[in-house]
Amino acid sequence: MTLGTQRNLISQPISHALIAPSILSADFAHMGRDCREVLELGAEVLHIDVMDGHFVPNLTMGPAMCQWLRAEFPDTCLDVHMMVDDPARFLDDFVAAGIDNYTFHIEAVPEPEDLIQRIHDAKLTCGLAINPDTPATAILPYIDQVDLALVMSVHPGFSGQAFIPEVLEKTRQIAPLLRDNQRLEMDGGLNPSTAPASKEAGCDLLVAASAIFGAADRAAAIAALRG
Ligand code: DX5
Ligand code: ZN
Repeated sequence: MTLGTQRNLISQPISHALIAPSILSADFAHMGRDCREVLELGAEVLHIDVMDGHFVPNLTMGPAMCQWLRAEFPDTCLDVHMMVDDPARFLDDFVAAGIDNYTFHIEAVPEPEDLIQRIHDAKLTCGLAINPDTPATAILPYIDQVDLALVMSVHPGFSGQAFIPEVLEKTRQIAPLLRDNQRLEMDGGLNPSTAPASKEAGCDLLVAASAIFGAADRAAAIAALRG
């Protein structure tokens, strides 16, 4: 079975919100099995949370994980979320690993234009992320240059935290500025109760870790997130 046949769907016009399970809550001893299950259940994107212990107080995974996922899922969109101090340093390694989207934080790279260009030169889509305490205005000057805006709805670092509803104000501000080939991604605390308001506020790429991999019934969880 071919899973997720559109590696470039972050930069395509879409008709419904995409579901991106974050593998942070998968069983790391059974990563391939867990990813295959959620893709077969219709999830379109795999979200890979990279943390360096500096930008956020946690350590997770790196290019090697992406390389193995690419080998196992050649047609699946791999969406990398860099929560690190120096995302530019690691770009080449992730490109070599075969990822599709590279998102970094404006808090880590306050002057992002060079890195945006490097990411596009490498033929990846580029995302720009903001933390809950950062105003939308921090990324607005660059919004035309990126393929995706990621609005964090928890303080980054760990899965399983509660959704911060105040961030919906920011997605309402950003959504009308986006073209139909740009995504608005919400990340953190999404579950069947919090997803509807996010979609209503313009988000069309929904990340969920604990609500999918922690669910007893993952099919029901994905269906409920999709709505
Ligand atoms: C948080 C990560 C998220 C996280 C989401 O720092 O960027 O992608 O894994 O986890 P949940 O969905 O459990 O809040
Ligand atoms: Zn993330």
